[in-house]
Amino acid sequence: MRLRARFAGPLRGRARPPGDKSISHRALIMGALAEGRTEIGCLLQAADVQNTMAAVRGLGAQVEQTGETEWAVTGAGGFRQPSETIDCGNSGTAARLLLGAAAGYKLSARFDGDQSLRKRPMNRVIAPLTQMGARFDSQNQKLPLIMHGGRLKGLTYRSPVSSAQVKSAVLLAGLQAEGETILIEPERSRDHTERMLGVFGAAIDDVEIDGAKHPRVRESKLKGTNIYVPGDPSSAAFPVAAALIIAKSEVRIDDVLVNPLRLGFYETLLEMGAKIAYEERRDPIGEPIADLVVSASKLKGANPPAKRAPAMIDEFPILSVVAAFAEGETRIVGAAELRVKESDRITMMVDGLRACGVDAEELPDGLVVRGNGPKSVKGGANIRTLGDHRVAMSFLVLGMAAKEPVTVDDADMIATSFPGFAELMRGLGAEIETL
Ligand code: S3P
Repeated sequence: MRLRARFAGPLRGRARPPGDKSISHRALIMGALAEGRTEIGCLLQAADVQNTMAAVRGLGAQVEQTGETEWAVTGAGGFRQPSETIDCGNSGTAARLLLGAAAGYKLSARFDGDQSLRKRPMNRVIAPLTQMGARFDSQNQKLPLIMHGGRLKGLTYRSPVSSAQVKSAVLLAGLQAEGETILIEPERSRDHTERMLGVFGAAIDDVEIDGAKHPRVRESKLKGTNIYVPGDPSSAAFPVAAALIIAKSEVRIDDVLVNPLRLGFYETLLEMGAKIAYEERRDPIGEPIADLVVSASKLKGANPPAKRAPAMIDEFPILSVVAAFAEGETRIVGAAELRVKESDRITMMVDGLRACGVDAEELPDGLVVRGNGPKSVKGGANIRTLGDHRVAMSFLVLGMAAKEPVTVDDADMIATSFPGFAELMRGLGAEIETL
């Protein structure tokens, strides 16, 4: 399915983004590892999360739908030998977290994924899990692979990358490992696993090493609990960006997760001059939530520091679109990880921005966008997405504010993270047509 977005005047109204993807994966996985029942409210109903759901069923958990977005997971108190391949589809989070969660059980499981996931590096989790005692049969340390799990030893692992997927794989494996497991990363990545492990009753805390705090987990049994999934700030980023760059817009995005380790994009927008207010802050179960009130703003270019990259890793595509509508240069650095996401997002964004008449340039670890203000972007391109959901949504937002409509060649993959994206945008006044 192709989608085309065109300018249709200001955005107005309010909307709630779908549930946070990271928290949804973790709720299913920890619920499946736990003893007893876990009720999950507002679970993301998207393809990536459905893969995790099918996987945990295959590993022995019961999962039932109890309402429109309400689900209950009953864990068997540990994973069992699956009879079929664990298909992670497009989801790196599903693959890496499940490998870690399953590594401590006596089972052999085949993991696979789609064309995009088969190209992504798995060595980043194979290396620490092997040190803990798991074994892997793979070609080039990519999917498909077979993991042989079993008794693990605790590990203090210095990850070369700041990656919540690596951290989570190691900490989840640590639940079944003798002794303690500590994960050290260059900059702290999103901490949903640490927070949620606490809610599920695991022995988890922070230790100070070399002047910084790092998570430590000890062998623990998880107990079923209740989890509420706030709206995903990485999905909210699209209506927020659109409201900022379309003159006279004013929108309210309800119930958004505002965990500080996910807010790098919003921090950068504020530095660019964005009018965004956080209202009704609350913290129901271990994660902070707020409503975002956003209005069209005159923006200037930004230079977000490299150390902020992990806190905005999924938002660089949409930030580069916002930068095209700002005055001046935006220089994104420290984001080499973008090259190993669902696509090489540095090349994909620079190519697409140039096709839309924007002055953009690749850096080895980021990109430069030189904006000329809100009325300067031509658009008018047919964008190749290589099936990358965030690239597709970013260019549709560009099309909503540009002089000429923008078409994306494959919008089906948007459903991996943001089902109902086009409907939510239309509800705020956007014009997005299916071709
Ligand atoms: C995620 C971590 C990030 C992010 C992904 C979700 C998670 O990946 O890009 O969309 O839920 O842990 P890395 O940890 O590999 O940076």
